[in-house]
Amino acid sequence: MDDPTVYLNGEFLPLSQAKVSVLDRGFLFGDGIYEVLFYHRGKPIAAADHIARLKHSLNEVGIAYPDVDLLAISNELIAKQQLADAKVYWQITRGADEARNHIPSSGATTMATSGGPTVFVMAEYEKPVDIEAGPAAVKTITLPDLRWHRCDIKSLLLLPNCMAKMQAKQAGCAEAILHRDGVVTEGTSTSLLIVKDGKLVTHPANHWILGGITRLNLLAIAREHDIEVYEETFTVQDMMAADEVMLGGTTTLVAGVTHVDNTPISDGQVGPITRLLFQWYFA
Ligand code: PDD
Repeated sequence: MDDPTVYLNGEFLPLSQAKVSVLDRGFLFGDGIYEVLFYHRGKPIAAADHIARLKHSLNEVGIAYPDVDLLAISNELIAKQQLADAKVYWQITRGADEARNHIPSSGATTMATSGGPTVFVMAEYEKPVDIEAGPAAVKTITLPDLRWHRCDIKSLLLLPNCMAKMQAKQAGCAEAILHRDGVVTEGTSTSLLIVKDGKLVTHPANHWILGGITRLNLLAIAREHDIEVYEETFTVQDMMAADEVMLGGTTTLVAGVTHVDNTPISDGQVGPITRLLFQWYFA
């Protein structure tokens, strides 16, 4: 069986031998942060933005930025596995403690555990992106957004996201679009953007959504091409009446939403602006 090399706490080792303590606070409390980067043709996309967001997330939960070069480690894993298109996962938890206590043993001053943070990096194969083929077409469902109030932090607390994604799968769909009292926030692992009358609209990057890096880049690319961009809230109703609905994310890239809750968006095809944004993203 494939046993790729991964990185754990200063060591490169086979995945099957990468072990952490059951007292790790990531395991017990979801007390940790993660990032996912996409490597296209051996090069990371928007690495600096991922590092900046990682710093934001760690800072918000009081975990010190680890003294390691995550990008160098990632590049090494990509090289070792000879990957071209791939996703790289970074996870940093507050580390393992001597016992299960809500407050870390070293107390409120550093908010870290005595053993220091747990740092894990893993690279996984992705099918090479077929730019010619264009964006994927996906069907979706809507569900209430059951997450906490700090979705801007990319924390390990993904139970509501996993539950919603499993419900989407059961319904034969690729993603669940979340809403708070009818206001659309984002997908379970994707940002959500709509097009209405040629204008691109997406939820503001506040504490109700993850500040998606793909989202950020798509907005910048749209502005460069003179597409008007609005970071404003909109309702499920607005989305159903949109000309186009699209998902953006590190591994999803750009995907066109053809159906929401079994209802077609516009003519039920991937829209023209979604196609253009996908092309420009890789240009
Ligand atoms: N998910 N919103 C949520 C809730 C996400 O988890 C993600 C990313 C995004 C898109 O953000 P970005 O463009 O920075 O990837 C939006 C990653 C890929 C994951 O959980 O695997």
